[in-house]
Amino acid sequence: SWSMEHFIDEQVEKIRAQVGNGQVLCALSGGVDSSVAAALVHKAIGDQLTCVFVNHGLLRKGEAEGVVETFKNRFHMNFVYVDASKRFLDKLEGISDPERKRKIIGNEFIYLFEEEAQKLSDIDWLVQGTLYTDVVESGAGGSSQTIKSHHNVGGLPEDMTFKLIEPLNTLFKDEVRKLGSELGLADDIVWRQPFPGPGLGIRVLGAIDEEKLAIVRESDAILREEVKNAGLERDIWQYFTVLPNIQSVGVMGDGRTYDHCIAIRAVTSIDGMTSDWARIPWDVLEKISTRIVNEVEHVNRIVYDITSKPPATIEWE
Ligand code: XMP
Repeated sequence: SWSMEHFIDEQVEKIRAQVGNGQVLCALSGGVDSSVAAALVHKAIGDQLTCVFVNHGLLRKGEAEGVVETFKNRFHMNFVYVDASKRFLDKLEGISDPERKRKIIGNEFIYLFEEEAQKLSDIDWLVQGTLYTDVVESGAGGSSQTIKSHHNVGGLPEDMTFKLIEPLNTLFKDEVRKLGSELGLADDIVWRQPFPGPGLGIRVLGAIDEEKLAIVRESDAILREEVKNAGLERDIWQYFTVLPNIQSVGVMGDGRTYDHCIAIRAVTSIDGMTSDWARIPWDVLEKISTRIVNEVEHVNRIVYDITSKPPATIEWE
């Protein structure tokens, strides 16, 4: 009968046999799948694995620090941390079209990963956190070479000559979460909500700059904290803030303000293909709204997105 311990033992044996003395590379994104895949492969082959984490500066508050803490400090993996925040911001300067932003972020990510891979010698294998559903969707029927460009900022160059290790490709998401917990990963990784590869880059509408990123990052952190305090994290598929890049008039003390508006987006969904807006209790929304306008500079108005998908999408870009 199938059990998690049995699955781990079996995979560890399989990975060791597959890899032999070879060197293995993994691109960590901070997401559930790549994290669990890395933890499993690390259990099997330890220092033969090197993880590369490219921080594009578009992650949520505390996320990059969390990845470093888990994989470098706690698991003691061979860990390459690339802080490319400045480089991404430079590339994105003045770019307002969402698809162009996605393309720039995706390309730059691949470029940086390739650069790091080339610095390491003799890499034979690449770990990918492909799930059973990814295999089925891509129609590859086993070894999925095609990586959905839309869905994975870790979409990797086609001309890379690595052989793939995909230890999760028989598992569903709920099994991957169980596996992650079994391997000692914390709940905030294992239960991380879906997060787009381009990150906050598509949550600041239009052109991105540091100030706007800070507004969306800080307001998002408050939203996440209050959703957690209300015990709603696992009931809501995704919840985040968006900076629509609209300024409106407000009043503070006896002064008039002309500042940013923040939109709260929270949806329930099964698979992200369709969604409904989450009925977050009003008192929770009130608390979130009050905290954001009080604690985040340059925000004077909060709106709640009450559209379903379709016709809206989950993200605003
Ligand atoms: P939409 O906005 O299309 O989003 O309703 C559906 C799901 O996909 C995520 N999403 C992305 N994920 N790269 C990603 O890796 C992207 O460019 C991207 N755009 C949207 C979104 O967060 C939701 O879970």
